[in-house]
Amino acid sequence: MTFGTGPLVDPASLSGPELRYDAVVIGAGVAGLSFALRLPADFRVALLTKGNLGESNTRYAQGGISAAVGPDDSPHLHEEDTLAAGAGLCDPAAVHELVEGAPEAVDWLISIGAQFDTDPDGSIALGMEAAHSRHRVLHAGGDATGFEVERTMVEAVHQRPNIDIYANTFAIDLIVDEGTCRGLIGVLPDDAHSLVRFTAPVVVLAAGGAGQLWSVTSNPPGATADGLAMALRAGVAVADLEFVQFHPTVMAVPGWESFLVTEAVRGEGAYLRDEAGNRFMTALHPLAELAPRDVVARGIQSTMASTPSGQVFLDLRHLDRDAMLARFPTIAQELKRRGLSLTDDLIPVAPAAHYFIGGVVAAANGVTSMPGLLALGEAACSGVHGANRLASNSLLEGLVFGRDAAAYVAEMQTPAGIPSASPKESAGPPAEASAEVRGIVEAVQSIMSQHVAVVRDAGGLRKAEAAVRELASKLDDIPTSGKAVWEARNLIQAALAVAGAATFREESRGAHFRSDYPETLTELDGQHSLLVSAESGWQFGSLSDPLPAPSPVTAAATR
Ligand code: FAD
Ligand code: SIN
Repeated sequence: MTFGTGPLVDPASLSGPELRYDAVVIGAGVAGLSFALRLPADFRVALLTKGNLGESNTRYAQGGISAAVGPDDSPHLHEEDTLAAGAGLCDPAAVHELVEGAPEAVDWLISIGAQFDTDPDGSIALGMEAAHSRHRVLHAGGDATGFEVERTMVEAVHQRPNIDIYANTFAIDLIVDEGTCRGLIGVLPDDAHSLVRFTAPVVVLAAGGAGQLWSVTSNPPGATADGLAMALRAGVAVADLEFVQFHPTVMAVPGWESFLVTEAVRGEGAYLRDEAGNRFMTALHPLAELAPRDVVARGIQSTMASTPSGQVFLDLRHLDRDAMLARFPTIAQELKRRGLSLTDDLIPVAPAAHYFIGGVVAAANGVTSMPGLLALGEAACSGVHGANRLASNSLLEGLVFGRDAAAYVAEMQTPAGIPSASPKESAGPPAEASAEVRGIVEAVQSIMSQHVAVVRDAGGLRKAEAAVRELASKLDDIPTSGKAVWEARNLIQAALAVAGAATFREESRGAHFRSDYPETLTELDGQHSLLVSAESGWQFGSLSDPLPAPSPVTAAATR
């Protein structure tokens, strides 16, 4: 872990302006937006997003938000399912906080304008997904939940004069002074070469996931592990980077970009078939198509490897045609573009990198190992997902822990009465990567897909690390800087850390499967892989080890 331990830009060399706030938030997905909207209105907030406001993983969420709001459900059952999916690695207190907060989070979202799908009797419609024991997934627009969540929260942010929106603004690195985070270095859209300092008593890292580490992913192009890489460079404790959830069913039509086919399709009764038409999952797990994601992903991968065409298919042909078209309009539309019918054709699917379970070690209120820095959402590792995330728990995590973090900040900090700056919502310069940088990124993705994906082993992980290091030095030789180069550096830094964590954990658990260590070791139950500093290297421990002693958290809503 020697690559890139210093900041990408030297804070001392900055000549640009300093922008002062009560809180600076990196990321306008569900986590960053929840935090910003739940803070009291006398806090001045800078909300940064590296693309247009609204572009994020959040926007593409399909299945929905899990919350125990059905008459046959309870937070306790939701808690049990989350812990079971987590394969011995969930933090029970964080899970408890999550599921207990779910009904309020949903009510809050509805109160600011979100419209969820309803049943004919007017009650909220609840979908079923893998490893949930109840129908408990709220959805919107059928399969467009993320779009509705992001739309609602973005509209709410526009109505909050205390939040300055810096769209197309790239956060490069955290500013750390004597072990405390004081702000960050960013680039504003209107001048790609002028670096500015955002300073605040609290910086919130809500920069999302890392799906772009792999060639096939459900994630949009912005998921380049920037938050994780910034944290690694700043020496903030991270954990569980080996746990990457591969979604079993991403549409795999040659020549087309990958597109998720929500698990809710299997929740509605769709089958997985091999090329001979057999339902292969029935032989692999009692829950068949609704087995935990890692089991289905491995089942698909091994079936693909053992059949001549290398293809597996989702089959909805036995289900009610009109009901399926009404329930999954976005997917039906995407299939149509590719010349396929949702209800009449077999849909080719393959596993794809989907959710980054590990990240910056954080308590439920976002507190990290570094004073002044909170982490939320997919960039954080709060312990709620354990070794394998329960479907539809991550929008929920952003909502509930964003609320908790806002309550924590409101309690610990007094707003400084800072006047508004002018928001930067202009479109940024196009982030064109040179062919050379693109080539390096594609090589990293290909290596990660070959050696650090659904199934890993020591030999492959060693090869991956060596190959990525070579690419790191190639990138170092490129004289230019800019968003594309910084993203490539972030991807390389994250790739090395993920490979390191996967090498360190010599067992198989949840989303991390080692063919050379196929057993789950009971002595590693509850043992997270922690990287507290580059010098100390990987070690097992509790997520609370690198965190300060907990302060009381006010979980009350602050709107
Ligand atoms: P994001 O929503 O990814 O937002 C990240 C933000 O950080 C963006 O605004 C981005 O611009 C900003 N950012 C990143 N780097 C920088 C930088 N360097 N400078 C400035 N800004 C930066 N979860 C569910 O619970 N239910 C689902 O049904 C579901 N379906 C999914 C379907 C798809 C296709 C995908 C990809 C994910 C799905 N997930 C689902 C997962 C879920 O959407 C994400 O985990 C969640 O939305 C993450 O939210 P976030 O706020 O942490 O990050
Ligand atoms: C899906 O809709 O299948 C994705 C749900 C999730 O990842 O939580």
